[in-house]
Amino acid sequence: MRKKIAAGNWKMYKNFEEAIELATSFANSEIPEDVTVILGVPFVYLKSVAVITAANKRIFISAQNSHDKNEGAYTGEVSPVMLKSMEIPFVILGHSERREYYNESPELLKLKVRAALDNGLKVIFCVGEPLLIRKAGNHEQYVKEQLKISISELSGDDMKNIVIAYEPIWAIGTGETATPEQAQEMHKMIRSYLNETFGQFVAKETSILYGGSVKPSNAREIFGQEDVDGGLVGGASLDFDSFYEIINAF
Ligand code: PGA
Repeated sequence: MRKKIAAGNWKMYKNFEEAIELATSFANSEIPEDVTVILGVPFVYLKSVAVITAANKRIFISAQNSHDKNEGAYTGEVSPVMLKSMEIPFVILGHSERREYYNESPELLKLKVRAALDNGLKVIFCVGEPLLIRKAGNHEQYVKEQLKISISELSGDDMKNIVIAYEPIWAIGTGETATPEQAQEMHKMIRSYLNETFGQFVAKETSILYGGSVKPSNAREIFGQEDVDGGLVGGASLDFDSFYEIINAF
């Protein structure tokens, strides 16, 4: 059965003390047995947060990005080999902020996904359309294309280590959420794409998360949709109480 996942994305928020405090609160919290919590932590805090949360078996740590190469003269970058050597299990790739502000193309993301998987990392792979594409009615095609270019050549075994996050860009950090029906429609489309590309088993087993202004007040309804297996949460994951409520919204 596919996993129910509440993933937080801390983005570039929190100083060290705040990050440790938040991690400690989650480490000490009781998480429902059927829910997997993933914390997407800034690089510099990864190891400290991993050590603090290690005792809580329901919590896993994720990086928010990694390079497509294993090593090299790339000042300021972090490779999947480095993450693996620190025993970080997950990495978020293809977040719309990386695509938009750092020019990460679907072709580059294909390389990043490959490099992460080759190093034994699990990937939360993000897709999602901008507002103009949604308004033009081309959102399904757009997202399908993102998937096609970056992940269609993976094997069924590779797909065991992929979680997909559908995040409509117009809903990220805007307070505007996709309706549960809009989310379900896209998740269903993504699952049928997985079915066509990788077969029934992968389609059935791959967790597909919704992201974009998930909060305690809407999580239950969104997570209740048939093809929604959880959320990738930005703003509301920065506060213990609100993310804990989301974790308990399945
Ligand atoms: P948000 O961010 O929950 O603040 O909209 C979601 C994300 O960017 O993953």
